[in-house]
Amino acid sequence: MDFQKQGLKEAIEIAKNLVIFTGSGVSAESGIPTFRGNEGYWAQFSPQQLASEDGYLDHPDIVWKWYLERRQKALETRPNPAHSSFADMQDFFEKVVIATQNIDKLHQRAGSLDVLELHGSLFRSKCRNCENVWDDENTKFTDDFHICPSCSSPRSVRPDVVWFGEPLPYNILQRAIKEAEDADIFIVAGTSAVVYPAAQLPYIAKQHMAFLIEINTEPTPITSIADLTLRGKAGEILPKLVDVIRNIRR
Ligand code: OAD
Repeated sequence: MDFQKQGLKEAIEIAKNLVIFTGSGVSAESGIPTFRGNEGYWAQFSPQQLASEDGYLDHPDIVWKWYLERRQKALETRPNPAHSSFADMQDFFEKVVIATQNIDKLHQRAGSLDVLELHGSLFRSKCRNCENVWDDENTKFTDDFHICPSCSSPRSVRPDVVWFGEPLPYNILQRAIKEAEDADIFIVAGTSAVVYPAAQLPYIAKQHMAFLIEINTEPTPITSIADLTLRGKAGEILPKLVDVIRNIRR
């Protein structure tokens, strides 16, 4: 593993702001499938059917069952060493921000305090009519399931996630962009980095002179601009990176 790579030690020595951009590969070792792998979500299902407004309007029950299964699965899994390592990094830098495309809440459960959920959360619902948003871990699939608890509108409750064709939550994206601009070190982990606008974040960080580290089992479009590529499983590499940081910053 190339922890001797030129520039890494200096970057760790002087960094104040660490920004971490994650995708589903970071949760793979917790047992949650990625999206585009051979056995990923999009190999089994059509994204347009399950993760779009039109799909929801055509088959709300199918869409809800899919999200409730994913919510249940996320509750049954545990953060893995990749998530814990990111939480550990909070001990060494003034500011650590995670911008995640994941909706499984595993970063928060591992102890990361500043998590920007770019694609929403499996654990919130929202009303399409009155736009009320609420924490939702326990909803059961019943006849009155789709009635908004706030405005009582029927067939209006949906998961608070970003679907195909929808914009990202404005304030969260703007803050992620600002944090990417201010990053001294920017880590990209477990994402194919092909879904925009989230995937612009590493480029923004690089343009603003961040030291860019990529952690992935496979090459991605980010590999060619990364200052350091660590090839392998996030849950195996990240604890080693924390050791390197601890040795330099203690
Ligand atoms: P992808 O399935 O596109 O990419 C997962 C990435 O993780 C790939 O580059 C894998 O090589 C890598 N990977 C797999 N296992 C890994 C491991 N153990 N350690 C390190 N890397 C590993 O998933 P995302 O990039 O998260 O959006 O996908 C981005 C967005 O596309 C998702 O948020 C979702 C999807 O459409 C929405 O639903 C809006």
